[in-house]
Amino acid sequence: MSVAKNEYRRVTVKSLIDMKSNNEKISMLTAYDYTMAKIVDSAGVDVILVGDSASNVMAGHETTVPITLDQMIYHASSVVRAANRSLVVVDLPFGSYQSDPKEALRSAIRILKESRGHSVKMEGGKEIKESIKRILNAGIPVMGHLGLTPQSIYKFGTYTVRAKEEEEADKLRHDSKLLEKLGCFAIVLEKVPAKLAKEIAESLTIPVIGIGAGAGVDGQVLVTHDMIGMTHEFNPRFLRRYLNLYDDMSNAFKSYIKDVKSVDFPNDKEQY
Ligand code: KIV
Repeated sequence: MSVAKNEYRRVTVKSLIDMKSNNEKISMLTAYDYTMAKIVDSAGVDVILVGDSASNVMAGHETTVPITLDQMIYHASSVVRAANRSLVVVDLPFGSYQSDPKEALRSAIRILKESRGHSVKMEGGKEIKESIKRILNAGIPVMGHLGLTPQSIYKFGTYTVRAKEEEEADKLRHDSKLLEKLGCFAIVLEKVPAKLAKEIAESLTIPVIGIGAGAGVDGQVLVTHDMIGMTHEFNPRFLRRYLNLYDDMSNAFKSYIKDVKSVDFPNDKEQY
């Protein structure tokens, strides 16, 4: 049997831990489809997250709650086909792991087998400890997600900064340590004070990847559609926009409409 040789060296969970030890920051971006994943992967991003933010960005839902496991698998399999170099992390969606550890394992196995993603991400600490253990025991790498965990939006009530009070900050410290102890290979920390995020990153040997968590962590993640300005209603302080594609695309569509209406398009060279 011959195995096609990969031109690229794949980023692995081990490479991320090595990057932390070597003080090299980790770049992570979301993708939900083949075309976007191809561009993100070719640009050299370390980790592609098939986030359940697909629920908002791709499907137009208000929260990440409605997206299903089947839909996540569809998005992830498209991304995996494009990713030659990046590590692909796939969100376990709400409802696919909270009820019991066996169900959590079944969901994680479906993600790996059906989408060929390389690892899963799960929101929560102590509350989902048994599920994380079960998945890790099956040899599936797990990335944790703490701080603002959008799947619990109805418990929080808002998307504001988490862990500003000492009690919640302490829970965050404990949960981070627990996830490391269980064997998670990295943790996403979302929307927590920069000072606390730095303290947590320094107290762990696994990488902490921040979104709205300041510069003192081991890497950064953004939702690609936000950072390239395809979305425009969402403007949190932490978001840096590298492009303004909403306006650029809108102008392109307007020009196309004008050209079609005026029969400027197609011209003589654009036909057979
Ligand atoms: O679903 C997602 O895009 C995420 C990031 C915001 C970290 O979980």
